[in-house]
Amino acid sequence: MCGIVGYLGPLNAAPVLLSELKCLEYRGYDSAGVAVIENGRLCVMKAAGKLSNLENLLATQHPTAKVGIGHTRWATHGVPNDTNAHPHIDSTGTIAVVHNGIIENFEELKEDLINKGYAFSSDTDSEVIAHLISYELSKGGEMLDVILRSLKQLVGAYALGIVSQEHPDRIYAVNHHYSLSVGLGQDESFLASDSMAVRQYTNRVVRLEQSEIAEITTQGVRLFTFDGTEVKRSPIAMDSSPYVIDKCGHKHFLHKEIHEQPLVLRQTLTKYLRHPNHPIDFSVGDVDPEANDGTAYGVHLTDEEIKGLNHINVFACGTAYHASMVGKILLEELVGIPVAVDIASEIRGRKLLVNESTLAIAVSQSGETADTLAALKEAKSKGAYTMGITNRADSHLAQITPNLIVTECGIEVSVAATKTYVAQLASFYLLAIYLAEKRGTISADKAREMKMQLNSIPTMVEQILAREEEIKETSIKYADAHDVVFIGRGLNFPTALEGALKLKELSYIHASGYAAGELKHGPIAVLDQNVPVITVLMPGTVYEKTLSNAQEARARNAKMIVVAVDGDEQAAKTFDSVLSIPPIDELFSPLTTIVPLQLLSYFISDYLGKDVDQPRNLAKSVTVE
Ligand code: F6R
Repeated sequence: MCGIVGYLGPLNAAPVLLSELKCLEYRGYDSAGVAVIENGRLCVMKAAGKLSNLENLLATQHPTAKVGIGHTRWATHGVPNDTNAHPHIDSTGTIAVVHNGIIENFEELKEDLINKGYAFSSDTDSEVIAHLISYELSKGGEMLDVILRSLKQLVGAYALGIVSQEHPDRIYAVNHHYSLSVGLGQDESFLASDSMAVRQYTNRVVRLEQSEIAEITTQGVRLFTFDGTEVKRSPIAMDSSPYVIDKCGHKHFLHKEIHEQPLVLRQTLTKYLRHPNHPIDFSVGDVDPEANDGTAYGVHLTDEEIKGLNHINVFACGTAYHASMVGKILLEELVGIPVAVDIASEIRGRKLLVNESTLAIAVSQSGETADTLAALKEAKSKGAYTMGITNRADSHLAQITPNLIVTECGIEVSVAATKTYVAQLASFYLLAIYLAEKRGTISADKAREMKMQLNSIPTMVEQILAREEEIKETSIKYADAHDVVFIGRGLNFPTALEGALKLKELSYIHASGYAAGELKHGPIAVLDQNVPVITVLMPGTVYEKTLSNAQEARARNAKMIVVAVDGDEQAAKTFDSVLSIPPIDELFSPLTTIVPLQLLSYFISDYLGKDVDQPRNLAKSVTVE
């Protein structure tokens, strides 16, 4: 959360910073700002709200500076307004700082600086950094040493961009437990939290490792550790094909991304599974090894290591956590190893019981979620094997584990995750079959049959998408609800949770997902004729019991909606509205049952006039714990 950018070179800095920020708006859209050095003076322009507000402001100012830093914010300390927007400056107005992360000891530092006569204007933790550097500068020394002395006093995880009026020829960048990349062009350099933002200008990138500071000039970058030792690192070459960020005729990115799911599933499945008669092959790279982009790819556990595993721990947040809940059931069913799935933020302060026979898996679309990375690092420090499932081969996650499954989704622009969810699910199906074959817990025939079933899923998703007009009609009938309850059992309990999450984040309607059997243990108290209950009802082991739980809700006069397979007469009799999908084996059903629920949330959100692609208060990449 929060995006940092920088530029120095022959171009006007402000438009370059703006174009970099556009690539990072997914990291937060509470406010945005830039600091440039214009005719020898530091000049800060910032605006609350979306990046377009900053764009409008810059259009009235026409700065011509050739050096600057920029920021897009997701508020942690201090409400989203102009004052709390970054960059923050020191009292002399000569040093500007942009910050991603949290300074945990900011209150103590702030009090100390106030006692020394420094005046603060914002409620942020970030402003303290600008004043601290100013204070250290007053004691003398080179700028690099001054910053290093300041860093020693900061507690927390952070990434920083710093410019000083006294040094218009350089930008300082600091990385402490985040990601920062420096892009190198011809007599120009770029800084960004996500290398995707510099890719429009250059494919030569130097990534900052943990606890490093970079001194960036138009001629390149010098890297130092926090004790001042210089580090040599050659630039890596990124894939130079630009990302296409285009709605391609869809009204919203979310709609486009929901419709991309058949393609995304095909791409992710065929990448690792060439043919149902062949073994799943995770050794294939997601990037051209020639591209030398420095990231891990593929799975490198030996057969002996796989056979020696006795436990799997999965860490994830939000939608990725829901995918992991499905993964747990699949892995336990097919591989026969106990699997624990944890909300990654819940690992902090708890005893994590992993050992050298544990496989720890972090699931993260962005590969940057701080909670998820922290949990995986802890498991790694205790000797567990580690693995990542991500959509970003160039992410922080890719750098901390040698085993990586990369989903083939392309960039997911909409803040609500859709296509990456089904791709994470597909990855778990592949992984479960892969491990089961290696450990001999399923027969070759069973594995082949499952691979064939997996390959048929993209077509089923296409068939559901072709029904979207019907789904829209049904959805809008329930758009006036204030509370919605989703229920499902077994593999479709996570579907109920994910359906509820999509509805609340997209429409702001309060929604909760429950294990269908839990309804009677308390949540049923909220039901009446005003509360729609959406049941995920798939033929199979839990059909009858789920139906009984839905009947209990119906007996309380709730409005009844169901996701059921074509031709389910019982469902047609019991429910007021049916969102029907093609018949599917229960084991694979989470891959398709979620699709009508994504569409339902999309149509309700659009009908209510909400900000579909950038819902309030959210950010796509959550880099604070
Ligand atoms: C919901 C959503 C979030 C993310 C969560 C984890 O639509 O997108 O719940 O799933 O913030 O993000 P990643 O997968 O990037 O770790």
